[in-house]
Amino acid sequence: MKKLLFLIFIGFATSIVAQNPLFIPPTITSTTINLVLDTGTTQFYPGRNTQTMGANGVLLAPTIIMQKNSFVDITVTNNILDTTTMHWHGMHVSPENDGGPHTKIAPGESWNPKFTVLDNAGTFWYHPHLHHFTGKHVSKGIAGMLLVRDTEEASLNIPLSYGIDEFPIIFQTKGLDSLDQIEVHTEMDSIVMVNGTVDPVIDFPAQIVRLRVLNGSSQRVMEFGFSDNRQFSLIGTDGGLMGAPVNITRYRMAPGMRADILVDLTTSLGQNFQIMSYGDELPAGNYGATNPSKIFHVIPGYTDNPLNGLSFPVLDINVVTATSSPILTIPTVLANFTPLLAANATLTRDIFMNFAPGNADLRGPFLLNNRAFMHSYVNDTVELGATEIWSLHNHTSIAHPFHIHDVQFQILSRNGQPPAPEHAGWNDVVLVEGGFSNVQFIARFDDFTSDTVPYMYHCHMLPHEDMGMMAQFIVVQPGSVGVNNLSTNFKGLSIYPNPTKGNITIEGLGNIKTINIFSIEGKLLVTKNVDINPSAEIEMPKEKGTYLLEIINKAGARTTRKIIHY
Ligand code: C2O
Ligand code: CU
Ligand code: CU
Repeated sequence: MKKLLFLIFIGFATSIVAQNPLFIPPTITSTTINLVLDTGTTQFYPGRNTQTMGANGVLLAPTIIMQKNSFVDITVTNNILDTTTMHWHGMHVSPENDGGPHTKIAPGESWNPKFTVLDNAGTFWYHPHLHHFTGKHVSKGIAGMLLVRDTEEASLNIPLSYGIDEFPIIFQTKGLDSLDQIEVHTEMDSIVMVNGTVDPVIDFPAQIVRLRVLNGSSQRVMEFGFSDNRQFSLIGTDGGLMGAPVNITRYRMAPGMRADILVDLTTSLGQNFQIMSYGDELPAGNYGATNPSKIFHVIPGYTDNPLNGLSFPVLDINVVTATSSPILTIPTVLANFTPLLAANATLTRDIFMNFAPGNADLRGPFLLNNRAFMHSYVNDTVELGATEIWSLHNHTSIAHPFHIHDVQFQILSRNGQPPAPEHAGWNDVVLVEGGFSNVQFIARFDDFTSDTVPYMYHCHMLPHEDMGMMAQFIVVQPGSVGVNNLSTNFKGLSIYPNPTKGNITIEGLGNIKTINIFSIEGKLLVTKNVDINPSAEIEMPKEKGTYLLEIINKAGARTTRKIIHY
């Protein structure tokens, strides 16, 4: 509590010195969407120049508003100096359109994803996703909000006027070095901003106001609430609207999470209050709490960051006269919400979050199922149409926000207990507490398959992700044989027939050097050098069963395929 009082004093002092009107990112509502990534200079503080990155600007990105079932044609042009990618976080799109680490955009080049919007009305976002560089590109500024609207939402009496009764709230903390440049992968993220505005203030009309909140921070958990502890209605989570509003005074938002919130200001005219992050209420083991570890690990310098363990203001709000046709009530019923049934799940997949061997540094690196991310290794193969339970086990001492691409999931349990009402909606990020806690979710993998382009799952603390706390899965046709490894170096490679009665032909061997056949237990059975041949025929070992075929090219890259001999 002492820290909170101290902050109110500081907040009061700064609010007199330097309050800035909250920046509201412009919108793109057309189905033809052009995004140009660029670098530039931003003054977070007057007279202090910081190099930043943005889309269609020098910081952040436009808010894209899409209609469900519309067909969008997006061009992303990369004018920054790094290769990057662009990912539509939370959206259900094909792996080719998902903008993961495999779908690179070189400097000076463009990428042109096109898709039908299948998602229900919800709060999504978009950001770069190049492996090792996500933290850099996002913390330097490339991140935008993406709202999907649909007819079900339109039939509800809720705010839909962006910038008037509906406001984007992109919460981020950043660290600046002594030359005012953004620090990447820093634990000194002591500057709080909303929509890129430091010390922001805004007027809200005295009616029902809708907040589209995104925690776009690299690491910090936000404990969302209001300074006067007023109640708010959570009407939607990551992936869309809930069945009914959930009335609460706090909502814990890990990096990557979104909240769709209605706040009733009908009797608040003339009042002043703040959106807060109640850091001093965060349990130990969350980044932003007094203690970032649930057990005994530490982050060097953590206590030097004044935000840690502190409850601090995020946005200053003044309530002014209502608009001419205000919404004055909060509906009691929202969207049609169909629970996925555990009884329909065909598989439970266990995912362990671990420290890398010999490492006890709370900053990482961390692993998933004891592996670091490898571009060429597919960790999981999921069958199209499958309903699966994913069981997340956190064997580290810090909470990790687990995020999965392609699907929205429903949380089934936290440490064996059913989820709180505010966690019962559609999500694509879930915060898994440290110290051997477990979260189970259920999801259905529909519509899209690819043998070659995987979807990601990872921790959404960007330093953790960049250091390898990421894995990938492919979705395949039921009964088809999964690919265990893939590599863009093996384009044009074809292997047939598979399953086989004895022989297989491998074509497109231009670059291939060695072919190995392993037993499914990993024992090397056959090695063949194919230095000269453009194609090769291989006899499978006599015994029927499943084998692993490893192909190594001249550059040393390798790919492995499952071969069934029947
Ligand atoms: Cu917000 Cu894999 O991403
Ligand atoms: Cu994502
Ligand atoms: Cu993590």
